[in-house]
Amino acid sequence: MLYLIKFYKWLLTGKVDSFLRKANLWGDNGGNISYPLYCDLQHLRLSNIQSFTGSIVGQKIRKEIVVTKSYITHLECSITGSTAYAAGAVHGLSGAGRPLMARYDLDALKKVADRDEVWERPGGFWKWRELLPVQNSENVIQLGEQSTPMMSCQKTAAYLGHEGELVVKDEGRLPTASFKARGLGVAVSMAKELGLNRLAMPTNGNAGSALAAYASKADMETFIFCPDETPLINVTETTLQGGKIWRVNGMIDDCGKIVAAGKETMGWFDLSTLKEPYRLEGKKTLGLELAAQYGWQLPDVIFFPTGGGTAVVGMWKAFDELEALGWIGPKRPKMIVVQSSGCAPLARAYDAGEKHATRWENASTLASGIRVPQAVGDFLVLDIARQSGGRVVAVDDNELMELWSDACRLEGMLLCPEGAAALLALKNGVSEGWITADERVLVVNSGNGLKYDMPDTAGAIDLSKPLDFASFV
Ligand SMILES: Cc1ncc(COP(=O)(O)O)c(C=O)c1O
Repeated sequence: MLYLIKFYKWLLTGKVDSFLRKANLWGDNGGNISYPLYCDLQHLRLSNIQSFTGSIVGQKIRKEIVVTKSYITHLECSITGSTAYAAGAVHGLSGAGRPLMARYDLDALKKVADRDEVWERPGGFWKWRELLPVQNSENVIQLGEQSTPMMSCQKTAAYLGHEGELVVKDEGRLPTASFKARGLGVAVSMAKELGLNRLAMPTNGNAGSALAAYASKADMETFIFCPDETPLINVTETTLQGGKIWRVNGMIDDCGKIVAAGKETMGWFDLSTLKEPYRLEGKKTLGLELAAQYGWQLPDVIFFPTGGGTAVVGMWKAFDELEALGWIGPKRPKMIVVQSSGCAPLARAYDAGEKHATRWENASTLASGIRVPQAVGDFLVLDIARQSGGRVVAVDDNELMELWSDACRLEGMLLCPEGAAALLALKNGVSEGWITADERVLVVNSGNGLKYDMPDTAGAIDLSKPLDFASFV
């Protein structure tokens, strides 16, 4: 009875989750929101309670409550603004051939949600479920997501010449060890909700393993195509986690053409970057999360290693949604979009003042994740860099290796080369004067360095000879 009264009270204030947690009914699986409650809930009405199933236990009715959290309303074309795309339906690109953006009833959500209560929830990026598209929590696929750490890196800042604050957000701690888990976790969950079970995708490596892992957990079949230069570990981790993967003697956009060409014959769904709307929603959680980690005040500058651009577009979308909810103010960080000198289509278009980017031929870089010769969301990324007062830059691939190993050594953090590229851009920004000491800088390390070929600088000891300790120092 006590539970019943309390539950009514919490329902009235819309804080169902807080109640459930306080009443010890919160499953440790966080986002998997199926709660057994022993109380009479027959007459309750709340938009985020989706279904009840009941059975009589003694005098009481045992209710299995499934709480749906999504406030999605529809999808919108990113170029024409057309809103003719229903939520809950399978979508690829818009009719104009451009990315679709999920839209939410933020006014309604604003009335019931509390930012600190949301942030305190467990479940990593699934804690933001009101702002994610999955309607039925039974479709949420979880692999132990957690919020990724914000590492203060003042030794690296000093090494790079930045006298102000430097924080590195380490996305290598997510399932499958890269930020790709955010996008694929949500996209695969949505695929499940939409009844899709055969998925195909081009990848530079990290997205492939994230797709394989989430899809295997959901018993789905995956067809993954990567350039033959993709790091070996990305290929093997993908197969070990149940993905079917092919190396292609071309670039990621050539792999994308295979996915498009096979759609009818193979009956697979195309999960290419920004060619379906829900990977973006997952990437958006990076922006939501860092806003909360900064105490709902954004940093002054964000550096992100960028290929297709979903993370940049996702973070920007997150900031807009947070502002509409009244959870942050209008201030935005300068978004620094980082590419490599070996593949810099967006940087070239930015320098030329173009709206779109042309294909980069003969792309090649040590930072394989950002080897994307052409991106369907190019105009979105370019807009964000300009609108934010940021820029799109290309760092010299030849300087990358040295900075990578120095940065890993300085902070004891195994960065990926893409993360090191973002640090190199910071170094250039300081020396060229477009980053100043009063700016609080966030650099996103997008994956774990273990996935890449690492320099082997170990010494060798020959046991047949006497040990020479003097040579160790
Ligand atoms: C480690 C890493 N960083 C950055 C990127 C670039 O991400 P996006 O294509 O979303 O810009 C990738 C993409 O594969 C990646 O694997």
